Amino acid sequence: AAPSLQQACEPFTINSDDESADVDWDNLGFSLMPTDYMYVMKCAREKNFEQGQLSRYGNIEFSPSAAILNYGQGIFEGAKACRKADGRLLLFRPDQNAIRMQIGAERMCMPSPSIDQFVDAVKQTVAANKRWVPPPGKGSLYVRPLLMGSGPVLGIAPAPEFTFLVYASPVGNYFKEGLAPLHLYVEDEFDRASYGGTGGIKAISNYAPVMKAQLRAKSRGFSDVLYLDSVKKRYVEEVSASNIFTVKGNLIATPATNGTILPGVTRRSIIEIARDLGYQVEERLVTVDELLDADEAFCTGTAVGVASVGSITYHNTRVEFRTGSEAVCGGLYSILVGIQRGIIDDNKGWVVEI
Ligand code: COI
Repeated sequence: AAPSLQQACEPFTINSDDESADVDWDNLGFSLMPTDYMYVMKCAREKNFEQGQLSRYGNIEFSPSAAILNYGQGIFEGAKACRKADGRLLLFRPDQNAIRMQIGAERMCMPSPSIDQFVDAVKQTVAANKRWVPPPGKGSLYVRPLLMGSGPVLGIAPAPEFTFLVYASPVGNYFKEGLAPLHLYVEDEFDRASYGGTGGIKAISNYAPVMKAQLRAKSRGFSDVLYLDSVKKRYVEEVSASNIFTVKGNLIATPATNGTILPGVTRRSIIEIARDLGYQVEERLVTVDELLDADEAFCTGTAVGVASVGSITYHNTRVEFRTGSEAVCGGLYSILVGIQRGIIDDNKGWVVEI
């Protein structure tokens, strides 16, 4: 059985053994593989986070009336660490995750770790679990920072105590299709986010509601669901766990982050890479008609990477898109992954060595 947090926090020595974990690296998917250590830091309401520590990975204990369990007071992040051919471990833009966590924490009435505290915790978690970082080209170590109202409440109010926790799992491709193009279904019954809501932050409570539409689409043979705006049902928003882009000639368009769209770190990075390559990139409203008329569509996300879209089905009409070696997204993804893995020179200061 996994140890309790109390057991997990008992003194221990971090095993700095370099030997790789016993994992079938060629068959990694996106499912949890528990690793050795996690990072935990606590803080009282209206106080600042001060000092956290690594502990053995294990179950954590909360009061039944913890704010996270009763009212969903929590947010999360996702980052990836890659192993370079020379063995060094690289993180991709962890400061951007830290900033997004701060913005999300403010919206959810929680204190947040400073950028330095966040990045340091992520680094410590990766370093302690280094035997779980896949060999070069075989995947990455997905790092999941959580910020939760862990103290008890009964009436709706911010928790009296907050927990920042970072754990990690080796991962490969997010979709079971691997790198094959995705087939998306445009959802028009359920919404992902509404104006003034929490769609623009990584609120824990944003993700369970997408499962119903996702399972229904998967049972009909689709890879995932594409959401429309909740008012006019006319503008494209995002996929369950990734942002969406369209390509038409030299023009790349993606929905602007207006509060209902998650401001993805991969989204922002792909926009910069595409502009550097000379594409015209626009962040604005994108109608579903414009999407269906595009040459190409692709999704971006930390977990997803860059995924080519093979078809979109909207009101019983299926539209197919350019994929494969002709697709613009393949070139953009190669540059992104090249930077993340330390193969392409990082002249943007995006990569942080551990
Ligand atoms: C990520 O891309 O890191 C995410 O957080 C998406 C998650 C729901 C798998």
